[in-house]
Amino acid sequence: MLLENTWLFPVIESIHVMGLAAFVGTIVLADLRTLGFQIPDTQQLKPWMHSGLAVMLVTGVAMFLSDTARYLHNPAFHVKVTLLVLALVAHFTLRRSETRFAAALSLALWTSVVLAARAIADFDV
Ligand code: HEM
Repeated sequence: MLLENTWLFPVIESIHVMGLAAFVGTIVLADLRTLGFQIPDTQQLKPWMHSGLAVMLVTGVAMFLSDTARYLHNPAFHVKVTLLVLALVAHFTLRRSETRFAAALSLALWTSVVLAARAIADFDV
């Protein structure tokens, strides 16, 4: 593994998790607002949302490239990437309708991405 026994991997993964807070955190607030929760308008948070996504894509690919063999054989990583593609497609299509169904689907998909990603470390074969 490229970054083994270095501080670089945990630093990159920590930045990945900070990206998660900005990207998925703002999505959750916006979706809960669409579902009727008393949450202030989140339109102004859009730049944070998409900067968070950019951070996650860059740090995610960096971690993946640090040990491609490990991740390509990790079933939780496969599930994560499949759900991630579905969640991103829904984010840039269906979710723009701002319906309660789209908000509920978005919350379910991103929760599943996070659960599958968290499981990666437990499914090394
Ligand atoms: C944009 C949405 C994304 C979300 C919500 C997400 C979420 C997460 C979460 C929650 C973790 C676990 C962090 C931890 O255990 O401390 C993680 C780790 C990871 N993510 Fe992502 N991620 C995203 C994008 C990506 C992308 C695009 C890739 C690369 C193709 C990627 C590759 C990884 C890798 C390799 C790990 C480390 C797993 C490990 O070794 O434990 N992620 N991600």
